[in-house]
Amino acid sequence: MQIGTSKLPWMGKRIGMFGKGGAGKSTLIALLARALRERGYPVCVLDADSTNLGLFRILGVSQPPKPLMEYFGGMVFSGGAVTCPVDDPMPLAAAEIDLEVLQPEYYARSPNGIILFIAGKIGDQGPGAGCDGPVAKVARDFRVYIHGEAPVTLVDFKAGFEDTARGALTSLDAAIVVVDPTIASIELAASMKQMVEQIKADVLPATAHLENPDLVAWANKIFVEASIDQLWFVLNRVQNAEEEEYLRQRLKEKGIEPIGVIRQMPSISYAWLKGTPIEANDALMEVQNILGRLENAEQSTGGGG
Ligand SMILES: Nc1ncnc2c1ncn2[C@@H]1O[C@H](COP(=O)(O)OP(=O)(O)OP(=O)(O)O)[C@@H](O)[C@H]1O
Ligand SMILES: [Mg+2]
Repeated sequence: MQIGTSKLPWMGKRIGMFGKGGAGKSTLIALLARALRERGYPVCVLDADSTNLGLFRILGVSQPPKPLMEYFGGMVFSGGAVTCPVDDPMPLAAAEIDLEVLQPEYYARSPNGIILFIAGKIGDQGPGAGCDGPVAKVARDFRVYIHGEAPVTLVDFKAGFEDTARGALTSLDAAIVVVDPTIASIELAASMKQMVEQIKADVLPATAHLENPDLVAWANKIFVEASIDQLWFVLNRVQNAEEEEYLRQRLKEKGIEPIGVIRQMPSISYAWLKGTPIEANDALMEVQNILGRLENAEQSTGGGG
């Protein structure tokens, strides 16, 4: 039931998922992708976690696609073309791709029509593979078009702050931070907020290590031209009202108000244990509600398009 995509306020957006290890990034990617499909969006998921392997199963994909890293010629550390964005901020060449011309081994389609890409995994690079910065560059720069239109792209980042420090936020329209009930998650949420505020205020990135002035100029340009304008926080794995209240209070002290809460649910941990799609209707309904509220906010502020 595809409705006219021009009426969908999130069309074309690139949205990144962040949070500490195990907070629930991939869970929320799967739920949000499904909620977006149900609303009629063409949806792409870019698995940009260089280490974890399980996302394809949770999306109901039987065979993971080949990593885009191979499409782009491999990592610089193994003699390939893809560099780390910290050493080389230059955009990845020819990273905007029409799905119709991409070889089908580089993507997979889930039964409900979610298109999955994998940026790259360092586990398949052998021992001493270098660093996973090149994976962050693919995540930063890869853009896909389907029949000439940009879908919604959800990017599942690696845990923690590293990809953010490498500039992953600069090519996103919005980011979501998943906050589980830990002090580490609360602190990461505050750091992400500060980082987005700094990017919006045109604070320049670290470039003292770059000797070539052209590279310094590129790094600065990428940060100054960054279009990220939304940062949302979702609580996950919350066990009871007391825990939720505590989390909300601590986040409020840091100027953060979550847009939704997903409870700790056996059906979610069971899905991850078995490697099957999540059958948690409460969680899906909450994500649908969050999406509805955000879409309305988008339409009333006239943002995006
Ligand atoms: N709401 C929930 N209820 C129950 N279990 C959950 C919930 N959310 C996540 N989990 C459990 O926590 C684990 C981590 O979740 P998930 O893989 O989504 O986190 P992640 O942030 O993507 O982790 P990683 O940093 O390892 O990529 C899952 O294996 C699942 O068992
Ligand atoms: Mg994950």
